[in-house]
Amino acid sequence: MNAVNLKKNPIGIFDSGVGGLSVLREIRRELPGEDLLYVADSGHAPYGDKSVQLIETRAIAIVEFLVSQNAKAIVVACNTATSAAIATLRAKFPVPIIAMEPAVKPAAAHTKSGVIGVLATSGTLASDNFAKLHNRFGADVKILIQACPGLVEQVEAGDLSGSKTRALIAQYVTPLLEQGADTLVLGCTHYPFLAALIHQIAGPTVAIIDPAAAIARELRRRLTSAKLLSVENRAGSERFWTSAAPDVTRPVIFKLWQMEVDVQSLPN
Ligand code: DGL
Repeated sequence: MNAVNLKKNPIGIFDSGVGGLSVLREIRRELPGEDLLYVADSGHAPYGDKSVQLIETRAIAIVEFLVSQNAKAIVVACNTATSAAIATLRAKFPVPIIAMEPAVKPAAAHTKSGVIGVLATSGTLASDNFAKLHNRFGADVKILIQACPGLVEQVEAGDLSGSKTRALIAQYVTPLLEQGADTLVLGCTHYPFLAALIHQIAGPTVAIIDPAAAIARELRRRLTSAKLLSVENRAGSERFWTSAAPDVTRPVIFKLWQMEVDVQSLPN
């Protein structure tokens, strides 16, 4: 297939579950004409406490599936999967692969107090990738890290504002504020769906940084330089797959995507 035809092909996006929809919505905003394929690996969420090997195996299987659906580029809409598998994915698949990392750089540029808090999964915070980020920016600002077990599960269950979700956020965010953080990094793609609650708990003076819009712009740049940007003059489509039971994931995708869409079972 030549590059002219590839421009019409879809973009594949995946996450351990529904969290990557926070990235998908920014991609939809940035690239309204592109067709988008989304895989929620909800049958294996959360990735945060899984082994690197398991996450790598899942990421390879999902990217193989997306490539079989003619994906012209891949977005790893998951910080944990990026930490565990990005080098392997890039070595294995020849398509452009865009990946997430906690937005420490913009947070370090934004903080006035000189203290930032990073909310992420324990897998992301323990990774070499994060150690490199820490080394790069930790001399300029104080970087507080906070793993948030349980939050991904709350979002996977569609509970964005209940008492358990609120209590978990208070438990994780309050110590960061007490240590002077004025800027919080959402280092997991599930957390933007909790941003309203995090804002409520942290108060109006604390900045919350979500890199999803920057990732969507980076995707546009990568597609443009690879001559893969769609030139179709029409609204793009979205297709959804899940590795959990579609009847379980479907209502959560409806809620987060704010539209009724077809959700299919991810083939094994
Ligand atoms: N959305 C994933 C991330 O960005 C969540 C990881 C998990 O499933 O624990 O890290």
